[in-house]
Amino acid sequence: MVKKISACIFISGKGSNLISLIKSSRDYNFPIKIDLVISNNIDAYGLKYAKKHNIPCIYYSSVNLSRFERNCLMELKKRKIKFLCLAGFMKLLSKNFIKNFKYKIINIHPSLLPKFKGLNTHKRVLKNKEKYTGCTVHYVNPKLDAGDIILKKKILINKYDNENSLKKRVLKQEHILYSRAIRSVFK
Ligand code: GAR
Repeated sequence: MVKKISACIFISGKGSNLISLIKSSRDYNFPIKIDLVISNNIDAYGLKYAKKHNIPCIYYSSVNLSRFERNCLMELKKRKIKFLCLAGFMKLLSKNFIKNFKYKIINIHPSLLPKFKGLNTHKRVLKNKEKYTGCTVHYVNPKLDAGDIILKKKILINKYDNENSLKKRVLKQEHILYSRAIRSVFK
């Protein structure tokens, strides 16, 4: 059995990536153990799911980002968390926060980075008449969706695709890619 790294997942919304990571982490060979979930949205469904599965969860408001980061940092240090995964966490973390976890914070983004950083990805991909889209797992640096890339998954866009179908098809791939990327980081 591998010695699992203690990890925290940051979410802001539905948490479907969190749910898939919780499922993967049950595998005795999966390199991380999810010891904490932090959300900046008290209504995030992922919080309810994690609680139901006995994973400690915390909500902190991020209206004041530096207070949010201070609170997180205190809790992460107290719990000796060594690795952070952003899973639909919709805030840009500061340089000051990130330096505490250099190359220990990763994120998933629903596009083939470096293309289509930021919000409304699928809408922009369709508007641009791209042939392919996909998802990317990357290390987090202080710039938006810009850190070193760990893994990408490409899918073909078909003529019937709309924003909603792309979101669903890409999300399905995200659930596979995120766990693969974590395994590859610790290989
Ligand atoms: C996912 O598509 C994720 O890639 C995206 O938000 C969604 C969250 O879904 N993240 C970003 O756009 C970050 N730049 P989930 O809450 O169901 O995991």
